[in-house]
Amino acid sequence: MSAFVVVGMQWGDEGKGKVVDYLTARADVVVRHQGGNNAGHTVVVNGKKTIMHLIPSGMLHEKTTCIIGNGTVLDLAVLLEEIEALEAAGYSTRGRLFISDCAHVIMPYHKLLDKAQEKFRGKHRLGTTGRGIGPAYADKADRFGIRLGDLIDNEVFRPKLQQVLDYKNAILAETFGEPALSFDAVLNEFSAYAERLRPYVADGVTLVHQALAAGKRIVCEGAQGSMLDLDHGTFPYVTSSTTVAGGVCAGAGIGPRDVSGVIGIVKAYSTRVGEGPFPTELLDGTGELLRTAGAEFGATTGRPRRCGWLDTVQLRRAAMLNGATSIVLTKPDVLSTLDTIKICVAYEINGTRTENFPTHVAALERAKPVYEDLPGWKADITACSRWEDLPGSARRYFARIEELVGIPLSIVSVGPGREQTILRQDPFQKLV
Ligand code: GDP
Ligand code: IMO
Ligand code: MG
Repeated sequence: MSAFVVVGMQWGDEGKGKVVDYLTARADVVVRHQGGNNAGHTVVVNGKKTIMHLIPSGMLHEKTTCIIGNGTVLDLAVLLEEIEALEAAGYSTRGRLFISDCAHVIMPYHKLLDKAQEKFRGKHRLGTTGRGIGPAYADKADRFGIRLGDLIDNEVFRPKLQQVLDYKNAILAETFGEPALSFDAVLNEFSAYAERLRPYVADGVTLVHQALAAGKRIVCEGAQGSMLDLDHGTFPYVTSSTTVAGGVCAGAGIGPRDVSGVIGIVKAYSTRVGEGPFPTELLDGTGELLRTAGAEFGATTGRPRRCGWLDTVQLRRAAMLNGATSIVLTKPDVLSTLDTIKICVAYEINGTRTENFPTHVAALERAKPVYEDLPGWKADITACSRWEDLPGSARRYFARIEELVGIPLSIVSVGPGREQTILRQDPFQKLV
C-alpha cells in the first residue's frame, strides 16, 4: 500500500504537472484531491504541450487510472472541454477517469460572486482567478453546496437548486445589484452536464482503497502551493482549500497511515500570481529576466507571474507543514545565464533578524530578505540527463538548497519536457 503526495512548496506553478506526469510512469493511480480550475498544470510530451486544470496530470499515460477526488470543486463546462480535448488527442477517458460523487460543483453564481467580491474589496482585492473557487468552497462549508452526486439525481437536484438559487439570487440582487439567474436556464444547462458526466461519476474513496488494498502505487496531485493554503498560507491572500500535504487525507479519503511519502516540488526561484506579500520579489531587470526565460505567465489566466529569488525561510516553513520526504527541484535551467544567484536565508523584520516565517501578512510585508550569493554556472543544462553531467556550481547551488531546507533532493528537472528530468534518488522510497 502506498500513496505519495506531490505538493507545491511555494505559491503554486512549481511544475507539479510536469513532475506528476514523470512520476506516473511508475504509478498506477493518480488522484487530484483539492482545488479546481484555478489550477493550470502543464505537461509536455514529445514537444506537445497539454494544460490540465481539473483532470490529473497522469492522464497522458494510457494505463493509469485517474481520479478527481471529493475535495475538489468542479466547473463542469471546463471538465467536459478537457475530456473532449483528451479524447480528440487520442487518449481514452472512459473506464480510466473517475470523478467523485462528493466533489462540489461550481455554479454560475459562484463565478459571479467571486468577481463581485473582488470588486467590493477594491484595493484590498486578492487577485483571484475569478473561477468561483472561494464561493464554491464557502458553500460547501456553509452546507449550501451542490455535489456531483446531487446533480446526477434529478429528484435531488431540482429542489436543491430551487432553494439555493432563491438564496443566491437574493444576495446577488440585494448586495451586489446583479441580475437574477434564471432557474430554468441553470437547471437545463446543468442537467445536460449531468447526462454527459454520469458515466464518469463514482465513489472515489472506494476506488482509492481498492487500489491501496491491491498494493497499487497512488500519486496524489496537489494543486496550488503551500503558501496559498487556507490555514497556513499568507491569509487572506490564499486559495480556499487545504493545499498542504495533509489535505490529501480529507480530499481523497485516506488515512495518514496510507501516506508513504511527500514529494515537495520547489522551483529554483520564486513566483506568485495575484496579490499578497512576497518578500523576495524582484521588480527590476532580473525579475523580468526570470519571467521571460521561465515563461512565467499563468497557465490559467495568462497573467504575468511575479518573480523573485528562492526563499528558504518560506521553504523551511513549507517543509514543516508538509513533512516532505524529498524535494524535486524544477526550472534551474532558467537561471543558467546569471553570473550570481541569490538565496534568501533569513528575514530582517523591524531591524531584527529571523529565520522563521511570520504567521501574519503584516509582519511578512515588512520582511526584508537577507541574501547569500552563489556563483552561477553560465552553461546550458537542458540536455543534462545525469547528476554527474551538471556543472559543479549548479550542484553546489542544489546542495545549498538541501542544506538550508533540510530535505534531500531526489529529482532535478532541467526543462519542460518529460525526458528533461534527472533522477538522483528514488522519490518513492518509503521513509515512514
Ligand atoms: P504547476 O501549476 O505546478 O503544474 O506548474 P505550471 O504548469 O503552471 O507552470 C510550470 C511551467 O514551467 C510550465 O510551463 C512547465 O511546462 C514549465 N516547466 C516545468 N518544469 C520545467 C523545467 O524544469 N524547466 C523549464 N524551463 N520549464 C519547466
Ligand atoms: P497551480 O495548481 C498559482 C492564486 C490566485 C490568487 C489566489 C486565490 O497551477 O499551482 P482563487 O481563484 O484560488 O480563489 O485565487 O490563489 N492561485 C494560484 N496561483 N497557481 C495556482 O494553481 C493557483 N491557484 C490559485 O492567483 O492569488
Ligand atoms: Mg500552474
